[in-house]
Amino acid sequence: MPEKLLVTSALPYANGPIHLGHLAGAYLPADIFVRYHRLKGSDVVYICGSDEHGVPIMLRARKEGVSPQKIVDRYHEMNKKSFADFGISFDYYGRTSAPIHHQTSQDFFRKLAKKNEFILKKEKQLYDPEAKMFLADRFIRGVCPSCGYEEAYGDQCESCGSSLSPKDLKNPRSAITDAKPVLKETTHWYLPLADYQKRLEKWIAGHREWKQNALGQIQSWFNDGLKDRAVTRDLPWGVAVPEDAARQYGVDVQGKVLYVWFDAPIGYISATKEWALEKGKEDLWKKYWQEKDTRLIHFIGKDNIVFHCIIFPAMLMAHGDFVLPDNVPANEFLNLEGSKLSTSRNYAVWLNDYLEKFEPDSLRYVLAGNLPESRDTDFSWKDFQARHNNELADILGNFINRTTTFIHKYFDGKTPPLAKLDKMDKELIKRLEKAPERLGSLINKYKFKAYVRELMDLARFANKYFNDKEPWKTRKSDADSCASTINLCLQTVCSFSVLADPLLPFTSRKIREMLNIENRYDWHDASSLSIKKDHPINKPEILFAKIEDSAVEIEIERLKSVLQSSENKNDKPEQKQSDLINIDTFKKIDLRIGEIIEAEKVEKSDRLLKLQIKLDGEQRQIVAGISQRYQPRELIGKKVVVVVNLEPVTMRGVKSEGMLLAAINKENLTLLSVLDDIPSGSKIS
Ligand code: MF3
Ligand code: ZN
Repeated sequence: MPEKLLVTSALPYANGPIHLGHLAGAYLPADIFVRYHRLKGSDVVYICGSDEHGVPIMLRARKEGVSPQKIVDRYHEMNKKSFADFGISFDYYGRTSAPIHHQTSQDFFRKLAKKNEFILKKEKQLYDPEAKMFLADRFIRGVCPSCGYEEAYGDQCESCGSSLSPKDLKNPRSAITDAKPVLKETTHWYLPLADYQKRLEKWIAGHREWKQNALGQIQSWFNDGLKDRAVTRDLPWGVAVPEDAARQYGVDVQGKVLYVWFDAPIGYISATKEWALEKGKEDLWKKYWQEKDTRLIHFIGKDNIVFHCIIFPAMLMAHGDFVLPDNVPANEFLNLEGSKLSTSRNYAVWLNDYLEKFEPDSLRYVLAGNLPESRDTDFSWKDFQARHNNELADILGNFINRTTTFIHKYFDGKTPPLAKLDKMDKELIKRLEKAPERLGSLINKYKFKAYVRELMDLARFANKYFNDKEPWKTRKSDADSCASTINLCLQTVCSFSVLADPLLPFTSRKIREMLNIENRYDWHDASSLSIKKDHPINKPEILFAKIEDSAVEIEIERLKSVLQSSENKNDKPEQKQSDLINIDTFKKIDLRIGEIIEAEKVEKSDRLLKLQIKLDGEQRQIVAGISQRYQPRELIGKKVVVVVNLEPVTMRGVKSEGMLLAAINKENLTLLSVLDDIPSGSKIS
């Protein structure tokens, strides 16, 4: 019987794009794990989706002057697409605004209410008399009682990290109106976690194999003693507290919703239900959530540990119908160029931006080799470039390329026979035989970095094998040996296409196309020499083009300028002077009028257009992120404003020598042009 696995990645809030920190925490490791298990023939379902409730989404909506629904619609679609383009292979990507989810979380609440698992508390909470609403969590700001930071939120201080409750804040004020809140009475449902502590302790004691970061945090919560947790809020956005379930308590549910951390994890269940419905097998979700032999695994970031290791399991215990997680592999944080990532300051690398410029597999490789598995790690663009160029291109790409090129050049594109084997050949065969077991067990134990390292070591070994065997010499001196060498190199490439598939799915597919072996394959095939003599292969193609210095330098510069501008803002807000430039600085920018004479879409990009621009005597190629606004056709003949002295860069393998000016406001974008006709090349000053 194949092993049955239900794998989840934390549902990201639909209030912003996905960044590298998310990927390194909960998504990339899970995807490697899942892809490996699929190749191995395990019965696996991989679930995720958008977390669409909670105060940050409401704040964002208020700031933009739109409804919360509009915000979550935007980011749900965007994130779903970036995950897909990055190769994260969810079986289902749901959303917590889905009717099934509302139904499922309300049923969950009903069941707990019926079993009398809740207690009710009447208490005074902070209320904004101007906005006429209770100020839950992040709706309230004030001075942190531990560190004195003035902008602390009601649930957390971002400066010192303390976890707070709104009433802890000194000088509290409403984040909406700045009004001074008053205390007003309200009633909420609480889960008395203390009642579950014994059971939770016993359960965790059976999981000494979990990673230290989770076990450590859990222990400290146990040591403090678990407290009652409110599971409802007074908010206008979220899953409504079901009226029928509230009736037994005689409480008015008007304006009350489930706390986001109560409904969101139930999203794993509701998304699995939707997956089953989509498959036309309505009850199939039960096989994974309700049968004891499921191995349930939650991939998360370390800030989610308490919710997945204590609170949600307590909810599941209280409910009684569901399996508990078998493991909760949590990652630490990923820093960026030596500084903490910050989404509010835009100090991050956004996945959708990344994908406009580089290949998904390059980032998968670099991130997976540098995952914050047991401590925080740092992502730097220089390291990204170096590992892409020196490892993916120079080791793996080079080995595959020289093997396939050799076959085309000297064996007419057909696999040469395996003849006699020497010591080196046998050593290579032995390595291949052992690789699937060895690499697979690392993945299965959540040791992703070690898997990446050993995989690249195998490529290194194969490259060395090619060098040491010198097939370009034996071709003339010992034809049998040459044939065997190349045969074994090709078998190695073939094994690689399977063993690297969890990590580099796009590259692996290309390799299999190149090797003309697109049919079914599985993990353990990688140990055998499966390519038959005379098997024809397709023309070689370059798998990894080198990444130029200029491409990463722009990224580094952008991050530096974000840091600088936020330093200016924090330290000396009154010094607006620092934003001024003098006329000489301005004059350094060479702006010209150009005419668009050709326009076409950049392959595999939704945003980029490749334009040919006529300036005075010369022509320029410029790549611009405007294809969601303009059809290529409508741009021909338009006069636009061009920055002509910008360093050239390569985006998606296409060279761009300059930039067009555009006005941008939220989703609106328009290219700048001129009021009267004027010859191309005219200088702007
Ligand atoms: N949205 C939460 C976060 O980004 C994670 C929710 S995980 C779930 O921190 F289990 F609640 F779904
Ligand atoms: Zn603080």
